[in-house]
Amino acid sequence: MKEKEIVLSGIRATGNLHLGNYYGALSKFVRMQNDGIYDPMFFIADLHALTTNPDPNDLHANVRNIVTEYLAAGLDPEKSTIFVQSDVPEVSELYLLLNMHVGIGELMRTASFKDKARKALGIKSGSEADDDEIEHQIVGAETNKRVNAGLLTYPTLMAVDILIQKAHKVPVGKDQEQHLELTRRFARRFNSFYGVDFFPEPANFDFGGKPVKVPGLDGSGKMGKSEGNCIYLIDEEKVLRKKVMRAVTDEGPKVPNSPVSPTVENLFTLMELTSAPEVVQQFRDAYADCSIRYGDLKKQLAEDILKVTLPIRERILELRNDDEYIGRVLRRGAEAARERASQTLREAREIMGIRKFY
Ligand code: TYM
Repeated sequence: MKEKEIVLSGIRATGNLHLGNYYGALSKFVRMQNDGIYDPMFFIADLHALTTNPDPNDLHANVRNIVTEYLAAGLDPEKSTIFVQSDVPEVSELYLLLNMHVGIGELMRTASFKDKARKALGIKSGSEADDDEIEHQIVGAETNKRVNAGLLTYPTLMAVDILIQKAHKVPVGKDQEQHLELTRRFARRFNSFYGVDFFPEPANFDFGGKPVKVPGLDGSGKMGKSEGNCIYLIDEEKVLRKKVMRAVTDEGPKVPNSPVSPTVENLFTLMELTSAPEVVQQFRDAYADCSIRYGDLKKQLAEDILKVTLPIRERILELRNDDEYIGRVLRRGAEAARERASQTLREAREIMGIRKFY
């Protein structure tokens, strides 16, 4: 029998999951798991979360949050390997080894690094001049505390998560595509340097569609924890409704068939993810003939989001204090993930010439 393709993905342990995580990642995890044709592995990236130096108790609580939210959204330990990144110490060793084949320059040019460094340094916007300013400040002696080396080598660690399990498909949102591109590049480089066909090159996966970017409610770009514009799976009904009703819009169309402004398009994008196609069409038509009332659109949107999130919220509340169950799931996941990881690490060491004398 042909071996099943390995599907692997993870989410950083930095807080509760929001609709961006859900539509960009978690809903796809569940669907891929339930397809039954893959060998699925999903983890909680606690080492990646360390790049922002969290409070230790918060970090631990966040790992619990994410695993609970994974299970509540439908990940099933009978079908998927569910584990915590740091429970697989082989990852840390391969991270050290792979870093020997990664250039500092290519890491510094990564969009996510520039973005995070900019935030850490308090530099606003994304103009060209920023790049020089960021580089200058990073290299400057006083700032080396603020942009740590873990942040720079974030893509190496992510590549190792994927390569150590020899994963083929990696369901992630649009913002992670550059990291996947780097992973493929590192895999090719390793293979060609040592003349081996060792690491497969992984690809994003989105059931035939394009990877999504879930927008925020504040009229800006994507929904993200650090942007403070999130709808969380755990949000209470009242809170969620309030957030949606407060979403930024504009003055409304004045002439028929006007172009939709980016802020309002964000609401349509959210609606396309959560509502039935005919409902979206009804509001698009109302926009086109200027009869749209944003209040109605928001009410409908809140209703449709709640249909997705409320059942998940209920299961989160049921599961989150069940330490015994969570412990059992993670122990079993760690064992399975380590088995594959330790074999890959053993072979990688051998390929690189780290061989024993005793
Ligand atoms: P993280 O924790 O930032 O995000 C987790 C997943 O959620 C997706 N996502 C979004 N998708 C669409 N629209 C949004 N607004 C949005 N916000 C977040 C992300 O694309 C991601 O899929 N580096 C990864 C974690 C990671 C990983 C890995 C993933 C570590 N190692 C190995 C895959 C394979 C990250 O930071 O995700």
